[in-house]
Amino acid sequence: MKLAKTVAEVKEAVRQWKKEGLSIGLVPTMGYLHEGHKCLIDRAVKENDRVIVSDFVNPIQFGPKEDLASYPRDIEADCKLCEDSGADIVFNPEVEEMYAENFTTFVDTTGVTEELCGKSRPTHFRGVCTVVSKLFNISEADRAYFGQKDAQQLAVIRRMVRDLNMNIEIIGCPIIREKDGLAKSSRNTYLSKEEREAALVLSKAINAGKKMIEEGERDGDKVLSEMRKIVEQEKLARIDYIEMVKWDSIEIHHKVDQPVLVAMAVFIGKTRLIDNFIWE
Ligand code: PAF
Repeated sequence: MKLAKTVAEVKEAVRQWKKEGLSIGLVPTMGYLHEGHKCLIDRAVKENDRVIVSDFVNPIQFGPKEDLASYPRDIEADCKLCEDSGADIVFNPEVEEMYAENFTTFVDTTGVTEELCGKSRPTHFRGVCTVVSKLFNISEADRAYFGQKDAQQLAVIRRMVRDLNMNIEIIGCPIIREKDGLAKSSRNTYLSKEEREAALVLSKAINAGKKMIEEGERDGDKVLSEMRKIVEQEKLARIDYIEMVKWDSIEIHHKVDQPVLVAMAVFIGKTRLIDNFIWE
């Protein structure tokens, strides 16, 4: 497995693979890889001849008061996980390699970015769409793999690919959870022991909402109100949002009468965690 630091190194490998008629899978990540990422990489390895894992903490998707500086990094451990999983390249560029000094081109997807995380983090998806577009161009991948934990991100990227006629298949993979239900996230490492315990309130609320719908509840507001009640009982938790939206358009929706995404962002202490379920 190769650790590539430059765009040119990745492009050179891609040129060779294309010449040989090999298919390419891309797993875009910000590193500090966990079981959730491993599932994406495993699937990419299974479905493609060659796999590139990008490992890049993308500064332009963080707001000015967010955790860019403290975002966890461990490139050695990441390379080991990628190598053990059968990836071919880990692409770990410096910021200057991805963004030249006079970088002025951005990809901005509207509509699907207006609610949920797009509302709380107004410049976030512009940063995500821009870096993901660059990664698609650099890797010329046939398929790219994204986790459903960032469900809105998955919807936004699917929309961008459709709207801009990008020649790539987007594959969404299920949320991977710890044994006790907490969705795996690199940001879980920020939690103290007490906060880690408190964070279980997210999956507790998710399970409760899902169960209500499974048992026949079709009034979205009742489902959300029960979920909010559960989260509010935890004193370390502060709700950013708990909402139901149409799964394709990410518009607020109040009835379970079509595929819906029920999504939440909750601060546990200073750490903002997200979780969701999709009802199809
Ligand atoms: O989901 C992530 O880790 C990031 O948003 C992504 C897709 C790698 C873009 O930086």
